[in-house]
Amino acid sequence: MKLRTLFLASLALNYGSATTAEPPRLVRQGSATQLVVQGRPMLLIGGELGNSSASSAAYMAPHWAKLRAMHLNTVLAPVSWELIEPREGSFDFSSVDSLIADARKHDLKLVFLWFGAWKNSMSTYVPVWVKRNQERFPRAQLPNGQGVEILSAFAPETLRADQRAFAALLAHIAQVDGKQNSVLMVQVENEIGMLPVARDYGPLAEARFREKVPRELVDYLVAHRAALVPEMKRLWEEHGAKTDGSWTELFGPGDASAEIFTAWYYARFADGLAASGKAAYPLPMYVNVALNRPGRIPGEYPSGGPLPHLIDVWKAGAPNLDLLAPDIYFPNFVDIVNRYKRPDNPLFVPEGNNWDRADVPANAFYAFGKMDAIGFGPFSIESGDDKPGALGEAYGVLEQLQPYILAAQGTGRMSAFKPRALYDETVVYEPLVEKIGDYRFTVAFADIQRPTATAETASYGGTIIQIGPEEYLIAGQGITVTFQPAGDGPPLVGIDSAWEGRFDAAGKWVPGRLLNGDQTHQGRHIRLPTGEWTIQRVKLYRYR
Ligand code: DGJ
Repeated sequence: MKLRTLFLASLALNYGSATTAEPPRLVRQGSATQLVVQGRPMLLIGGELGNSSASSAAYMAPHWAKLRAMHLNTVLAPVSWELIEPREGSFDFSSVDSLIADARKHDLKLVFLWFGAWKNSMSTYVPVWVKRNQERFPRAQLPNGQGVEILSAFAPETLRADQRAFAALLAHIAQVDGKQNSVLMVQVENEIGMLPVARDYGPLAEARFREKVPRELVDYLVAHRAALVPEMKRLWEEHGAKTDGSWTELFGPGDASAEIFTAWYYARFADGLAASGKAAYPLPMYVNVALNRPGRIPGEYPSGGPLPHLIDVWKAGAPNLDLLAPDIYFPNFVDIVNRYKRPDNPLFVPEGNNWDRADVPANAFYAFGKMDAIGFGPFSIESGDDKPGALGEAYGVLEQLQPYILAAQGTGRMSAFKPRALYDETVVYEPLVEKIGDYRFTVAFADIQRPTATAETASYGGTIIQIGPEEYLIAGQGITVTFQPAGDGPPLVGIDSAWEGRFDAAGKWVPGRLLNGDQTHQGRHIRLPTGEWTIQRVKLYRYR
């Protein structure tokens, strides 16, 4: 089959008419994993609400239409335990129902964030009957025995109560949304991790810390030895790669073993929660990650969360979680997402920095186009004014490209580009080269004649998607693209045609200007200007 026929066939498959009432699920396509909703894959072009916004339907009322106008298709919204179970065993789902009703009215989908036992380490979203009953729901303790406002992960009653509420929520979603599928996924807790020390020192935790490292974790380390994340492999091997022994025997004394211990029991708790939620309604589930700043010790950052160096512990301890999802507020976005996209972990970025940061749109393009992400959502998305802004414009382009991105994810027919930035915000200026089909593309950022990196360069980026043997969609802002041949054939490459344009609501290409002359530097390159997010449809040809 010709490439074009293949491409159209896969589009037809992806956008077929199948409508089932099965829950949204994750499905493999080549090397990618996609979220399939009612038989069709979708990209979660999203945004996360500020923490308190979803607790009031009236507060949210003016924001929904704005979010849709920004071309979001999905809103990530907290559901808090204290609101849905104000008295033990008595559930009030009005906050959930109004979120679903309002999202539907505005043609938006939802990801619910379960603010249960922990929200940013702390236990401030638990109902007061939990908060005030320390006997039944013990707190984590510091080495001196003082409690912190963090429920201990070692208390069976806490897990049971959280599970019961979470399962009731999922059962309710199944009941009110099992057919329409407005709710796509659920986040289990929020940014789990112990503060301000590496582990809980309460009596329940102490008893567990005296036990041997659980068999399941050791078996995982042995089975995945070659593929463990470098930090875990090094730590375990430095201590003799033992398969039996205490936490300190396997992972050394001090914070390192304390943090792995913490990670294991948080993972087991989250897994237990996910299992009981899925038994009620099997939506895809994930945990989000509060990343650590370099040079800090566990406890200075939330210890034991699903951090890059602890991915193995979480994978071993929480098989019921579908993915570990990084919240990225640091400039080194590219490096971070490369750690979380793995064959066993599709990329989802629930908090891709604050919505108004200049590099957010380029990060969204990179996530979907290079990392085959299932979703991306900057934080505090409702905080802007009524104008769509740069993010709205970029999301508008992603919305147009969605069928093409979905068809290309995991197939090698697409890539995306943005300059790598370091943690200290230094932008690494380096044209990126990628072979897509029979052409090799060199993508430079901003002005190809004067390649210097400024802070603004971090906001440039885009994607290239092959849509025919010699035809490509090139979309983004601030990039200049040149071409070389790849594979057999004449040695030189020219531009057959380059059209600016857009896809209308029905998905039909609406061409604008035919670009030539100064706009393509007399046939030498494709340039997407800075300051606006645009699409060009480009056909190349080979000559000698
Ligand atoms: C990360 C948390 O997950 C969010 O709920 C919110 O607290 C943001 N940090 C604030 O920056």
